[in-house]
Amino acid sequence: MSKSSGTIYDDTREHVGLRGSGGEAQDGPGNDSPGANHVSPVLEAREVSKSFRQGPVVLDVLQGAALAVAAGERVAIVGASGSGKTTLLQILGGLDRPTRGQVLVDGRDIHRLTEKERGELRNRAIGFVYQFHHLLPEFSALENVAMPLLVRRAPVGEARKAARELLERVGLGQRLEHRPHQLSGGERQRAAVARALVTKPKIVLADEPTGNLDGLNAEAVFALMLELNRERATSLVVVTHDSRLANRMERVYEIEKGRLSERLKPPLRRGEPCTGT
Ligand SMILES: Nc1ncnc2c1ncn2[C@@H]1O[C@H](COP(=O)(O)OP(=O)(O)OP(=O)(O)O)[C@@H](O)[C@H]1O
Ligand SMILES: [Mg+2]
Repeated sequence: MSKSSGTIYDDTREHVGLRGSGGEAQDGPGNDSPGANHVSPVLEAREVSKSFRQGPVVLDVLQGAALAVAAGERVAIVGASGSGKTTLLQILGGLDRPTRGQVLVDGRDIHRLTEKERGELRNRAIGFVYQFHHLLPEFSALENVAMPLLVRRAPVGEARKAARELLERVGLGQRLEHRPHQLSGGERQRAAVARALVTKPKIVLADEPTGNLDGLNAEAVFALMLELNRERATSLVVVTHDSRLANRMERVYEIEKGRLSERLKPPLRRGEPCTGT
């Protein structure tokens, strides 16, 4: 890749939320034993509150949110527009600070780390799918997806191969050299999902990952996430408005009036898959 060396990647690390060279995502406990669900959580929020002050107005978006996600677990977060879903996801991933409370990622309090340590933990353990794709405009789809691996100094050939395979899986095999502005909205979202999954992270935090997609592509993207979840015991935390998708996760949390609570799922209908397989 012509842009694989020097300052361009250094400059873009901040942009893609992947600061620091990091380690390998695959190491450490909890990632090599799919199904080993009930050990210590890979992600835990303790009494997380978040308020935004806007002039004289203080908005208490989250109040004492608590959540624990085990290795390999699939969790949905639902709630009305403006209820605080994105805010919670940003706090869980260390991209925004809580006003109060703690977030433990792989046992480490992510908001008490230095900026560098936090970047390394994110790179090693978390894959993000943002509500808006955040692909880098000056890079091709292939380069965007390969980037998290290159930031970790994976060999260029390997990174490109992994990126190509994932892009083919999400139906973008014919768009490898397209820049983000040459892709449709849904195609950009699929590329963003491929980028989040390419490092095989312990936790994928996804904000409406299928919101812009038609039924077929939503299913392909979701199936890919579930496959990684099974293969690697990757935990999924997915914000969604799609109740069918939410009900295919193991647990569903709802945010209402600043409170996060676990919601009872409706019983499965006959023949309905519980894991999307
Ligand atoms: N930086 C900020 N400063 C002030 N208020 C904010 C900020 N970020 C979010 N908010 C407010 O917090 C509330 C929750 O926002 P958030 O983006 O988390 O909602 P959401 O549940 O993700 O909504 P949607 O489903 O529409 O994406 C909103 O009312 C929003 O206006
Ligand atoms: Mg949102």
